[in-house]
Amino acid sequence: MTPDNSANKALLRANGLSASVYNRNRGREFHFFRNVSFHIAPDEVVGLVGESGSGKTRLGLSLLGLLREGPGLYAGSLSYRLSDAEPLDFSFQHNGGKRRGEPLRKGRAPVLGKRIGLVMQGAKSALNPYQTIGTQLKDTLALAGCPGTQIPVVMEQLLSAFSLASRSASIAHRYPFALSGGQAHRVMIALGFAMGPDLLVADEPTTGVDSPIQALILQHFKAFRKGTLGPPRHASRPKPSMLFITHQIDLMKGLTDRVMVMYAGELLEVFHTSQLGQRPHHPYTERLMEIANEAGGRAAVHSIPQIPGRMPVMYDPPEACVFADRCSLANERCRKEKPELVVDPQGQGVACHERH
Ligand SMILES: Nc1ncnc2c1ncn2[C@@H]1O[C@H](COP(=O)(O)OP(=O)(O)O)[C@@H](O)[C@H]1O
Ligand SMILES: [Mg+2]
Repeated sequence: MTPDNSANKALLRANGLSASVYNRNRGREFHFFRNVSFHIAPDEVVGLVGESGSGKTRLGLSLLGLLREGPGLYAGSLSYRLSDAEPLDFSFQHNGGKRRGEPLRKGRAPVLGKRIGLVMQGAKSALNPYQTIGTQLKDTLALAGCPGTQIPVVMEQLLSAFSLASRSASIAHRYPFALSGGQAHRVMIALGFAMGPDLLVADEPTTGVDSPIQALILQHFKAFRKGTLGPPRHASRPKPSMLFITHQIDLMKGLTDRVMVMYAGELLEVFHTSQLGQRPHHPYTERLMEIANEAGGRAAVHSIPQIPGRMPVMYDPPEACVFADRCSLANERCRKEKPELVVDPQGQGVACHERH
């Protein structure tokens, strides 16, 4: 285990978290992520970056209790210090592999539903098909404790911010099936904001949209963070924290405080966004940055064909460095011994034998 001791007053702390799914056909476990340790402080925005298939979505879902215990989450712990709620601490154990995991303990879901919000990838299926968008927004705002008189005001603000309402027409009366993919995507983000959560997990909220909309969405995430968009927050509550998941490292500037880099289900690096390009980075992070620059800041890093080799197959994850096969700096040691991610008191670290 590689504990992250860099912040004492974390809103969320994950230590040595691992998750898998048992595949009956193969008779083996597929590992989503392994031994992941990190924290998110109150009012902190943390980016999670890595190419497709690296386990970002599963890690994000696990924070909301949407992965089961057992395989699912089979090792490590999660601790929450949410506002106006008792401390919540969970630890996970492997149940032998073949049994399906148990649903996470009762008592957790109500707190997480309200205090931890999710903007999912693949928006349409995540919206309630039986309720109009207006009803869903209204109910969410009410649940978040938004005063009744403010609900129509905040609704209007969110709908117009996301280009979902103009003076002549609003999508508030429509059901999800009557929305375009782009509208449904923006509704999902608006609902995430409407929840007024302590922590918002936003999974690829800028993926699959063209660049003017991408810029708009990023701008709104910044506004939400500052508290100028979304329901009013009581002064006693800290500003919202976020886990912002993306495969585009160039989106991190101006939005996130720190960046975590994930590859093959492991965190390879954590750093302050202000230090992007200013400190020795993991060779994988450097490739992500180069690719983003080559594409003029608009890189689609679903995979990185420029680097020979492929991401390890997660039925049999390597016990050495997971990036060694594709790394130009890899040596004998990297192919034998896994470099640990040791996060320093400033909240930064690189899991690499060659870069510290
Ligand atoms: N039920 C499953 N069985 C086996 N592999 C799965 C299953 N569900 C997801 N995966 C795989 O898990 C990996 C991690 O997925 P995901 O968290 O969605 O990654 P990311 O969000 O970084 O693209 C992917 O390679 C995906 O194909
Ligand atoms: Mg994903």
